[in-house]
Order: sequence, then C-alpha cells, then structure tokens
Amino acid sequence: MAKMVNLTIDGKPVTVPEGTLVVNAAKRVGVDIPVFCYHPKMEPVGMCRMCLVEIGRPVIDRATGQAALEADGALKIQVGPKLETACTTPVSEGMVVLGSTEKAKLGREDILEFLLTSHPLDCPICDKGGECPLQNLTMGFGPGESRYLYDEKMHLAKHVPLGELIYLDRERCIQCGRCVRFQEQVADDPVIGFFQRGRSWQIVTFSEPGFDSYFSGNTTDICPVGALTTTDFRFGARPWELNSAASVCTHCPVGCNLTFNVRREAAAGGKWVVKRAMPRQNEWVNEIWICDKGRFGHHYTESMERVTEPLMRKNGELTPVTWDEALGYVTECFQAASDGLLTLAGGRLSNEDLFNLRQLTAGLGGETALYTSMAGGDLTAQVGLGQGTNFSEMGPETAILVVACDLEEEAPIWWLRVKQAAARGARLIVLNPRPTKTDRSATDVLRYPYGSEAAAVLALLNALSTKRPDLPETGQALARDPVFQSVAKAFAAAQNGVVIFGSEGTSLESSQALAQACANLLIVTDHVGRANNGLLGVWQRANDQGAWDMGFRPIPNLKESMKSASALYIVAADPAGDDPSLAEAADFLVVQDLFLTGTAKLADVVLPVQAFTEREGSFTSGERRVQRFYPAIPESPGSFADFSITAQIGQRLGMNMESRNAASVMAQIALQVPDYAGLSYTKLAEVVEQWPIVGREDLYYGGTSYENRQGIGVQLAPAVQRGASVSLSWIQPAQVGSVQATPAQTGLIAVPVTRLYDRGQMLLPSKILHLRLPEPYVALNPAEAGRLKIEDGATVEVTVTGVVVRVTVRLDEGLPEGIVLTPRSLGIPITGPTPVSLKVVDRVVA
Ligand code: SF4
Ligand code: SF4
Ligand code: FES
Repeated sequence: MAKMVNLTIDGKPVTVPEGTLVVNAAKRVGVDIPVFCYHPKMEPVGMCRMCLVEIGRPVIDRATGQAALEADGALKIQVGPKLETACTTPVSEGMVVLGSTEKAKLGREDILEFLLTSHPLDCPICDKGGECPLQNLTMGFGPGESRYLYDEKMHLAKHVPLGELIYLDRERCIQCGRCVRFQEQVADDPVIGFFQRGRSWQIVTFSEPGFDSYFSGNTTDICPVGALTTTDFRFGARPWELNSAASVCTHCPVGCNLTFNVRREAAAGGKWVVKRAMPRQNEWVNEIWICDKGRFGHHYTESMERVTEPLMRKNGELTPVTWDEALGYVTECFQAASDGLLTLAGGRLSNEDLFNLRQLTAGLGGETALYTSMAGGDLTAQVGLGQGTNFSEMGPETAILVVACDLEEEAPIWWLRVKQAAARGARLIVLNPRPTKTDRSATDVLRYPYGSEAAAVLALLNALSTKRPDLPETGQALARDPVFQSVAKAFAAAQNGVVIFGSEGTSLESSQALAQACANLLIVTDHVGRANNGLLGVWQRANDQGAWDMGFRPIPNLKESMKSASALYIVAADPAGDDPSLAEAADFLVVQDLFLTGTAKLADVVLPVQAFTEREGSFTSGERRVQRFYPAIPESPGSFADFSITAQIGQRLGMNMESRNAASVMAQIALQVPDYAGLSYTKLAEVVEQWPIVGREDLYYGGTSYENRQGIGVQLAPAVQRGASVSLSWIQPAQVGSVQATPAQTGLIAVPVTRLYDRGQMLLPSKILHLRLPEPYVALNPAEAGRLKIEDGATVEVTVTGVVVRVTVRLDEGLPEGIVLTPRSLGIPITGPTPVSLKVVDRVVA
C-alpha cells in the first residue's frame, strides 16, 4: 500500500498517497487550482503555468535533521520565494499549499492576460462558448481588462481542416499541447504535432489522410478552448440549447458510455435531433474516451432510408399496412408454424428484446438462433472476467494474452486500455498470424499459421500440463518452440491472467475450438473466478454477450435450418444481404429491422423498429457489464421497440408478455435468468464517485458533458466466481488443424478479419465517415501477388462460395503467403477460412 502524506491546501488538511500531484490533492478537498495544459489522464508537462501556487515546506533543523518547530510547537514552514506549478509538484509531508494568496492570484492573472494577448475572444460564435475552460477561468481568475490592443493581435487561419473530421482554429489555440500529448501518450497515433517557433507555434497534422487516428474526436473534448472542433458539430448548436441523454455505443462489445446531446431543430421541421455524441465517464469501461466510430457513427439512427411503417407482401410487392393488419397476419402464420418457427436474432438487440424473442419462440415450441460467426459466449459466462475487473488497475502482476485478434480494429477502447496496462508493466502477449498494432505494446509476439489459433493456445498449455489431447503437427511444432514454452510459464506464473480472443481468421467452428482452448488455459493456470482474471470475447456486435446470456446460440447449419423452417422470424440480422446463398427462405418470412435490408426485401412482412436513440433498454458488454441506455429523442408516433413488437405478437397468441415497459422486462429477466438475478433498472442506474473528477461543475478538465449521473452498470460475476465448478473440455485436435496452405497444394485461402470501418448498414449512413470507409479490397503478400502477377491497386474478381465480387488488391508484407486477407462487411460473403480464386480484371493501378 502506498505511503500516505499529510499536507494542507488553503488551510484544509488532506491525506493522499505519496506521489500525488498538488493539483489532484487540492481536487480531493474541493479546492480548484486552475489548469490548462494539465490533464489527469496524461503526464504533466508544466507548459502553461496556469496552476501557479505558493508552496511552503517544513524547515529541517540541520543540526538534528528533524523538522524545526515554532515557539508554539507547530511545524516551522518556509514558503518558497517563487510560485510553483501545482500540476508538476508532488505532495510532501507537512507541505502547506497556498492557492489563494495575492501573489498566486496575480500569477494567474498574468498568465491569463498573456494567453489572451492573441486570443480572438470570439466567444459569441465559438463552439466551445458556454463550456469553455478558458472562458470560465478568465471569468474566475482573469484580469478585468486587457492592456493589449486588438490591432496588435496575431491573426491566424480559422478554419483549418486537420482531415475531414476535425477542424483547427489557429487563433484560438493556447498551445497547451493536450491534443498532441493525447495522440502520443494515449492513442499511440502521433499524427499531429507542433510546427514553427515562438508566436507562430501551431498545430499541424503529419498524416495522410489528415489526423489519421480512430481516436481523433477525443482531442476536441480535452482541448480547453474552441481550437479543435468536429465537422459533425461545429456551428451546429450552442451547449446551453442542448438536452442530454445517457446512452451506450452500439458498434462494438466495449459498451462505451455515451451522452447524446439533442435539441429540437427548425432545419429538421421542429423534430428533436441528436447533435453530438460525447463520452460519458465510466472508469470501468471507457474512462473518458470513445473512438470515432462511436462518436460519428450514430447517424444511421436518423437515416431517411429507415423503414417507417409495417409492410406486407401483396401481389408480389411489399405494401404499407397498419400495425394491426401486419401483427394479425404474423400471429396467424406463427401460430400455424408452431414449432416450425425459427427465430434468428442479431447482437444489435437489447437484452429485453432478446428475452421477449426467446419467450415468444419458446411459447410456440420453436427454435432460436444467434446470427454470428463467433462462438464462446457460454464459456465467458462460466469463466469470463471476474466481477470487479478493471483494466485501469492492471500492472506488473497481470499477464494479458490477446489471441486471434486485431484489437484496435475490433474493440478500439479495449486496445487503448490494454496498451496502457502494458505501459504500467502488465505482460502483454500477442498471439496472431500477422502483425497488428497491438504488437507495438507487446512484451511477447508469437505467430501461428492461420487456422491454428486453437492449436497455438493448446501449445501454450502443453508447456504446463499433460492433460490435453494430441495436437496436430502445427500445434506440436509450436509447442516445441522454446519461446512458446517460456511465455506459457510466464502466463501461468502471473498473479492475474486475462485471455482476450477475437475472430481473426476464424469461423464459427474454429472460434468454438479457440474459446475452449483459451478457457482451458485459464482454468489450468488458475486465472478464473477473481477480479482481473478470466476470458474476454471480442464479439462482433455490441450485445452478442447479452444474446448468449438470454439463451441464444449460433447454429452450425444455418442455411439448412433456415430452409427447413416453416416460418422464419429474422430480427436485426441480414443473412441474405451478407451472403446471397442464404436467400432461399422458409415458407413465411418476417423481418424486423431498421432498414429494408437484403433479407427484408425477400420478406412476407417487414416490421419497422425504433432506433436505440428513441427507446430504453440494456446491453451486456463483453466484460459482462449490464448497462442501461435511455431515450435521447422522442419516438416517432406509432413506432415500437423490438421487445414491444415481439410482446404484441405474443399477447395475440395468448402469452403473458410485457409490451410497454422495458424495466418490467428486466424485472422478468432478473427472475428467470440466474446470472441476472437481482438486477433492476434502478440498480443499473446507480453511480459512485469517480476519479479523476472531469467535467461536472468546474469544466476545466474537459469542458464537455462527461458527467455520469445515469449509471455505471453492473458487472456480472461469472459462474465460477459464484461457486460453480468448471472442468476442462477438449475439442478434438482434428478440428483445430491449420488452414494455411501453400499455393502449390490447395490454392489461396481467404481468411476473414474485422475492420473498425466497414460498409455495414450501421455505418454507411454516417456520411461524415465516408472518406474513411475502405472500398472493397483484399490483401495479399507481395511475393504471392508477384507470382500471380497482381500489382498493388489492381482490380480482381474474387470468387468465394460461388459469389463473385470485384475488389481492389492491397499488398501487405505482414501477411503469410497463400492467404487472402478479406475484411468482413466489405461486400465479400465470408464467414470463415474459405478457398478462393482471384481473377485479374485490371492489372494497372488507376
Ligand atoms: S489545439 Fe487545443 S488542445 Fe491542442 S494545443 Fe491548442 S489549445 Fe491545446
Ligand atoms: S470502442 Fe466500441 S463501444 Fe467504444 S465508442 Fe468505439 S465502437 Fe463504440
Ligand atoms: S503548468 Fe500546470 S496546468 Fe499548465
């Protein structure tokens, strides 16, 4: 435990751990020491001098080496002759901090006067106006008047695009360096920096495209002035016009907490619209960060392409009908189908939606299926991350194994947090067939051939235990590798161990083998059932884990099951859009979705749903934290949430189902799903004091709406932590063989990978991101491409499972030969490693 230090700040006694900075100690007792360059999530630099205070320290008697005392027995304190920066000075025993003396006040006034010499003071038209630390601190600590003349101010460029997402106003920049340090220290994307000298010092971008980082939007939150703004929001609204609603990002399994700022807008015909998405502080989930997909990727909710009324096929055409007619027909057909009903659901749905879907389907004796190509959610429920897990607390005592995963692409904020854990000393082991950005922070980087991910994990186990099946030759070779052996021993020896598995190059089947191998490794090394230990799946949808918890499972032969069902109820999934070979539907097809997807176009009935911005519900993140989201804007008249539509069908069938209140559905979940026992919307809305204090009243650590008053959620305990016993289970080695092939043997193998920016239905409507969305492409090793006489940028036709797609080729030296790296959701229907053929259409780069 850290040694505690006692000091006083403006007369208030405070006791804090040794090493605490004076500025943070002051915050603990409610004393505001103003800052600009300091940010509690980054290393201090002492650049702006705004935090100047007087500091006194006990006088040491040189003769005795003891603290000297005054006549009255009090410690003799000597105040330093110069002001000191509270953001770079650590506390010390007996220290006396004086932040409100005339000298300190004068120091701050001088700094503010200096900062404002060339500031445009265009607060009335500045996006930060109303939530600006410079504005606030000038009001609180600045001089009443300026001695500088307007004509003497430097006039710099005001609308400088640092890329198409972020704009810079050079006049407003106070050169605090927070944005540059964020990109270097937190995002590990040093794509912006300072240029020039003296008063010409300014922020520039070095990357092409400009400000090329998945985390760029965070700099607009931490910029203490209106210098950095997002293209999405700039000149969009004034902060005081905005209402706030708490939400949760729907794009990946991290479950970042969001605040939506909304207002009624004349341009939208008087409708309520979402003006911006901001991070909401949750130190256990996303701290105060979100990625740009979460920030800019919510526009699908307001797309004009959304289905707004129920449709029924009449004379071969989908035709608008009333809800009564649509639900009546669906009820009739589901009743007729009875146990021939197959309900296929996607991980976009909330827990309440999924629970009701399961109730309805079970009531009819039908079957449910989860639409995913990733398995293992049953294992994360057993040996997942222990309750109380927090990546921010992980350090040298923890080993983190990231396997078959490009973490930054699949779950950006987990990537940030894992990287920071590694920086604090955690042993980060990366096990992946090709280089990814996670390698930069890794302690150990191990490779295996595509298709051998489970064998590679079992090879680690081999070094520790004999309780495993025989491995295929690839696995045996890895097991003989001394590096594998030493890494396995290090993982086993670590006090805490976490395994993160993704879906790099995996299919549903191989993902099951991988998840099981990872669970086995954790069980054998006793890294289960405790906080900061366990298994974490990087799911492909935000609430895949919730779907597993609600009893949904992927089914191996989806195509056959779909064909043989007498009625299909497809909710939040687009199998035919993803893979045209799945287009042969059952006799009766109902699609419930936001959009007229490829599958919806084939349906007999299409039921439109509310977006998550228009309703409430809960999601369960990959870390198995159940979190509430709230309605941000009113629902359109006559529209319903998914759970409500399902319940209305159930009610027509005579079932007792909740159609109005999501909280009541959660109450039923708490009664019927053992892992969710005791949960309620009230419990999910509980908050606790969070550190560091950002946003809230003082606004100088951000100036945005970070405050979390709506709930930090509840992390579920995995079964093993609740006392259940877990046992090892082995997937037979035959199922974990390598798909890696040399061209001479079996030709090319396409392997699926996930990219953050894809061309899926939930991202395409966000036009602001269009320049960042890749055109359909595949990647090849240059030597392989040379053999095939394919140049970088050439156009090829890719044939996967009989479907032909035209894409461009990128060359990537990190790729093994024989492999065609194929991003998911870019138009190529790929669900696992698949033989592929390439036909060159255009060899020459355009
Ligand atoms: S742009 Fe903002 S965050 Fe960056 S240096 Fe200037 S004032 Fe600081
Ligand atoms: S990391 Fe995932 S959950 Fe968080 S903002 Fe990005 S896409 Fe959303
Ligand atoms: S020098 Fe302390 S906040 Fe800038």
